[in-house]
Amino acid sequence: MKILITGATAGIGLGCVESFCRDGHSVIGIARGVEKLRDLEARLDSFRGIACDIADEDSVAAMVAELGDGTGDGGLDVLINNAGYGAAGPVEQVSLRDWKAQFGVNVDAFVVATAASFDRAVIATGDPSDLRRLSSGQPHVRVFAI
Ligand SMILES: NC(=O)c1ccc[n+]([C@@H]2O[C@H](COP(=O)([O-])OP(=O)(O)OC[C@H]3O[C@@H](n4cnc5c(N)ncnc54)[C@H](OP(=O)(O)O)[C@@H]3O)[C@@H](O)[C@H]2O)c1
Repeated sequence: MKILITGATAGIGLGCVESFCRDGHSVIGIARGVEKLRDLEARLDSFRGIACDIADEDSVAAMVAELGDGTGDGGLDVLINNAGYGAAGPVEQVSLRDWKAQFGVNVDAFVVATAASFDRAVIATGDPSDLRRLSSGQPHVRVFAI
């Protein structure tokens, strides 16, 4: 399968990338840091990295354009919206700027990347079951990743 995963260069995303490549899948990985993407390309034959800030709509549009229009072998079989982070703290101590930044990555980016992919018919089948999302919840704090 051809799998696109955001947040491909660290943590859970990196683990998924290594596992998918080991299982013979073709993987496109997204992250902001170019160096780690190039390192992964050198290490994993079936990996291709595209640098993109998923919280930046223009950056996502450029990334989706680089993927092609979904015809031929350009279509994705699976999109995994994994990139995100969990900054925790009481609401009264969290600035609106930090809140919006986290929302931009954890929530808005999921919508933007998914919509852009469908818009360009990048998802091969259009089946919602081909979409995956990782999220986080920490009920003991009052600001958490959704
Ligand atoms: N770790 C946990 O215990 C845990 C628990 C529950 C849920 N989760 C969720 O699982 C997902 C992965 O967590 P993780 O702990 O594996 O993360 P991580 O180790 O911090 O890795 C984050 C990855 O996302 C990329 N990234 C971050 N911001 C980005 C952006 N704006 N645009 C593009 N790429 C971006 C990072 O690369 P660059 O910095 O180069 O962009 C990196 O590859 C997150 O959604 C998190 O909320 C994690």
